Amino acid sequence: MGFGFVEVGTVTPLGQAGNPKPRMFRIPEKNALINRLGFNNEGLDAFIANIKRSEFHSILRHEYAGKQSKTPQNRMILGLNIGKNAATPIERATDDYLIGLAGVYPYADYITVNISSPNTKNLRALQSDEALDGLLGALAQRRGELAQEHSAKKPIFLKIAPDLDEQQIKVIALTLQKHKIDGVIATNTTLSREAVQGLKHAEETGGLSGAPVLEASNAVIARLRAELGKNYPIIGVGGVLSGEDAQSKIKAGADLVQIYTGLIYKGPGLVSEVARALKR
Ligand SMILES: Cc1cc2nc3c(=O)[nH]c(=O)nc-3n(C[C@H](O)[C@H](O)[C@H](O)COP(=O)(O)O)c2cc1C
Repeated sequence: MGFGFVEVGTVTPLGQAGNPKPRMFRIPEKNALINRLGFNNEGLDAFIANIKRSEFHSILRHEYAGKQSKTPQNRMILGLNIGKNAATPIERATDDYLIGLAGVYPYADYITVNISSPNTKNLRALQSDEALDGLLGALAQRRGELAQEHSAKKPIFLKIAPDLDEQQIKVIALTLQKHKIDGVIATNTTLSREAVQGLKHAEETGGLSGAPVLEASNAVIARLRAELGKNYPIIGVGGVLSGEDAQSKIKAGADLVQIYTGLIYKGPGLVSEVARALKR
């Protein structure tokens, strides 16, 4: 389809059903949707089995490296995105992330630590000062051990929400640097309903994605870039529905762009449109 890389997840240590259906609502007037899936997934073991079956992962690529038999799939970059189970108390969140990190480590080109879903109770509280410091400290230490064990240092990216003020972004930037976390993904879905007020489904609980999140996401990217300096990797995501939207992410300071809701409304043609626009 023309993607440069792919990220899958969020996976939690144990399988879980997520929230009851209905849990996803389109707001087509605004090229938006609200979801409250709640990390419905089959758990870490099933996730890894799927990745192995896909012939699309890091281990395979290493095995193929010397053999001249690389297929295009083997050259894809794969990010694996980890989270916590709903049933794990928030005070024990770090345990779940450490399990996820160790589990996905051998198969990932990079690991995303998702602390910004609005659909797992208190998850976003992990973005604030001491909680973030503790979590990133633990992950950085464990990553050091895993790097030795697997003879490969895999980058960790932190995925954050768009609903953060300047001060919060500043603290996040400092904490990322303190623990030598490799990059940041901005942003997840928003809790704001400003852009969809009065429309059908606008009051559903969950995270809003698509066109209405573009501006808020870009503002977070721009703040992050200002705080982190020019050589820090930022993946921009939120509200890309055209090549121009993707360019606005790069202009805001992103190095790479991801799409989700845009793919739902625009279909696969969006991928080549974005790739061409970014090349220009
Ligand atoms: C149906 C749906 C499910 C999502 N699930 C996850 C998830 O499991 N983990 C995650 O980090 N982000 C998840 N997201 C957030 C997206 O990855 C993305 O950050 C957000 O939707 C903003 O980008 P977009 O406007 O291009 O959709 C989900 C978004 C949608 C619409």
